[in-house]
Amino acid sequence: MTTDSPATTAPIRVAILFGGRSSEHAVSCVTAAGVLGAIDRDKYDVVPIGIAKNGQWVLAGEEIAGWSLTGGALPEVAAGEATVSLAHLGGGHQLVVSEAAAVPQELGAVDVVFPLLHGPWGEDGTIQGMLELSDTRYVGAGVLASAIGMDKHYMKVVFEAAGLAVGPYVAVSDRDWTVDPALVRERVAALGFPVFVKPARAGSSMGISKVDSLDGLDAAIAEARRHDLKLVIEAGIVGREIEIAVLEGRGSDAPRVSLPGEIAMVDGDHHAFYDFEAKYVQGDAVNLSCPADMPEADVARIQEQAALAFDAVGAEGLSRVDFFYTAAGELVINEINTMPGFTPSSMYPQMWRASGLDYPELIDELIQLALHRKVGLR
Ligand SMILES: Nc1ncnc2c1ncn2[C@@H]1O[C@H](COP(=O)(O)OP(=O)(O)O)[C@@H](O)[C@H]1O
Ligand SMILES: [Mg+2]
Repeated sequence: MTTDSPATTAPIRVAILFGGRSSEHAVSCVTAAGVLGAIDRDKYDVVPIGIAKNGQWVLAGEEIAGWSLTGGALPEVAAGEATVSLAHLGGGHQLVVSEAAAVPQELGAVDVVFPLLHGPWGEDGTIQGMLELSDTRYVGAGVLASAIGMDKHYMKVVFEAAGLAVGPYVAVSDRDWTVDPALVRERVAALGFPVFVKPARAGSSMGISKVDSLDGLDAAIAEARRHDLKLVIEAGIVGREIEIAVLEGRGSDAPRVSLPGEIAMVDGDHHAFYDFEAKYVQGDAVNLSCPADMPEADVARIQEQAALAFDAVGAEGLSRVDFFYTAAGELVINEINTMPGFTPSSMYPQMWRASGLDYPELIDELIQLALHRKVGLR
């Protein structure tokens, strides 16, 4: 235990932040339902704060508990009359509720914020920067690691520098595509088909297409550019999809790694790859299994590489590191997610469950890591 944790008396006040402005809004809402259902209420006093799609912060109620992605409309945080904000009042981090023509109401201090947000404005360092400015402790990666983990281009640059194997790819900026699309097509064709066309900074497979020939490229680029004007186009890798859940070590301990998990598309399913629908809507399109069946030496290798990837981007708290594992036993890193899917049935919690840490314990450990983090030394 470090000595610089805040002087908190139980219960510890945790603000969970969910929803948000990204296309993963609904997924984040379902995560909030899962966390609210599992968090230890004796130890933690939870303040649920929803972020509406327009960016407004609102106090949420227990209605969240019933949210799911199946059976009807996707859950959504509704904008409201009263806005919640995090204010830096007299050296503290206070929640304040303000409403037009009313005196702002203080909700008191929070000890730690748990951002259950995915994608831009949540997982990309922006909200982390806002929390830094208000001197608020928070769960998970900081500004830089979040930003690297959000950008599929810079993530590869960092991985390569750390000696990890990344697949062949082309990064395409807005200017590249606007000024010389023919050159982009030429560089992509040199990768060979199929290719995966991706917005550089999205998530949950949003805007990603698998393209089998040059004919489909422009349409896929147009689709990806609806999510981000910067793209990454990758050669298709043939291999199993194996993931590792990484949890920061306590104090100066090395990152902890889970058993490997595997994602396998169910044979004969119409999904060409692990797309949004397969991830969240149609649960039976995909098999998640943990531990993945692989030789022990390869398990050790992938765990080591996952911890290396975590440290390479400077992650904190949690990350899921995803690899392709080829028939020849090669590991090609696909991505790191600094705020991986975190519903009770998501891969990250499932991999920890299989490795001996259940969902409530995992939530507790993540909050404790944030409470014990050394801060204020920059
Ligand atoms: N280069 C690739 N080769 C083969 N399959 C890929 C490749 N890139 C992505 N995929 C497939 O698309 C899915 C989503 O891509 P990914 O880069 O992980 O996006 P996201 O960040 O949205 O999860 C992967 O889980 C995999 O099924
Ligand atoms: Mg992925």
